[in-house]
Amino acid sequence: MNIKWAKRIEELPPYLFAEIDRKKNELVEKGVDVIDLGVGDPDIPTPEHIVQSLREASGDPEHHRYPSYVGMPAFREAAAEWYSKRFGVTLDPAREVVTLIGSKEGIAHAPLAFLDPGDMALVPDPGYPVYPVSTTFAGGVPHPMPLLKENGFLPDLDAIPAQVAERAVMMFLNYPNNPTTVLADEGFFGEVVDFARENDILVCHDAAYTEIAFYGKNPLSFLEIPGAADVGIEFHSLSKTFSMTGWRLAFAAGNERAIAGLGKIKTNIDSGVFQAVQVAGITALENSSVGLEERKEVYRERLEIFCQGLREAGIEYTVPEATFYVWFEVPEGMTSSEFSERMLTEAGVVVTPGNGFGDCGEGYARVSVTFDTQRIEQAAERIAKFRP
Ligand SMILES: Cc1ncc(COP(=O)(O)O)c(C=O)c1O
Repeated sequence: MNIKWAKRIEELPPYLFAEIDRKKNELVEKGVDVIDLGVGDPDIPTPEHIVQSLREASGDPEHHRYPSYVGMPAFREAAAEWYSKRFGVTLDPAREVVTLIGSKEGIAHAPLAFLDPGDMALVPDPGYPVYPVSTTFAGGVPHPMPLLKENGFLPDLDAIPAQVAERAVMMFLNYPNNPTTVLADEGFFGEVVDFARENDILVCHDAAYTEIAFYGKNPLSFLEIPGAADVGIEFHSLSKTFSMTGWRLAFAAGNERAIAGLGKIKTNIDSGVFQAVQVAGITALENSSVGLEERKEVYRERLEIFCQGLREAGIEYTVPEATFYVWFEVPEGMTSSEFSERMLTEAGVVVTPGNGFGDCGEGYARVSVTFDTQRIEQAAERIAKFRP
């Protein structure tokens, strides 16, 4: 029998990284030493006090049963407390916070709560691919907002056509930004609040990287901006801050009605996060500064090592002030895909072609420095020798 696929998966764009993966595996099989800087997944282990907390909590039979759909009250309280300390934002843990199985889960489910078929969602381009895909899955239409170098990789809200603003019911934003690594300031977020209010658009700010910033930079929460809680929610993840990508723990916070909408979807789809993981999450949030500076220092050093290699190769890049990525321009006359293919075959380094994040990522590439420092040094040496 020929199993029919629904159009929503049949029509997904081809997986851009599949060809690179195939070539990478071919080279590895031939014995080539390939350094893969593709995926942003911290190599630094989760701090021991968090692991210990899970060890203890996992033995408690109370945690072996179904968890609450929207998260343990104690975890949501810890999230609210952390928001208050870190950003000065007051949240009602019962109504303004919902626990997520990683922020990807919340981002992927949000359009189901807010979009009707044909509604538009504004998505950053380049951007995390889950924003447009989840929009499409919900029957919505993603409308790209170009993030251009000349605008500091912030979307130009004035450039959004009136009829698009009219049809749009959601806007995804993400600062510090993956892949461009830039931060947003209060002025920009203020414009977003005004734009959202004028056009009845729910802002979904993805704040996965607020804690990974360097050189004294202090990324904002969107919810710090006056009026933001009237128009938006924020996704916050423990993945990057605490090296907990494998644990699947995050939360959304902000507008009460939007949080309730997302919670309603989740109640009907999943059964929450293993409570012992939430207990470990409380330990993480209550001791949020333990080891954070040290982890950031590791990323900063690696980013600088890699950027030195780019400078030696004469490649333009944006100085990363946050995240653990470098976003750089591919040499003139080459497409992103051609560059990443040549980097792989000639230098044995996997870089992510920028067009994988949207059309406006064409001409760029991204690397992640979530790998052993020695490997980053080797990759930088190889890049430094690359001649287009
Ligand atoms: C911009 C952005 N948002 C969200 C996520 C998802 O993180 P998680 O689901 O682990 O919370 C990622 C992961 O790479 C990301 O880069």
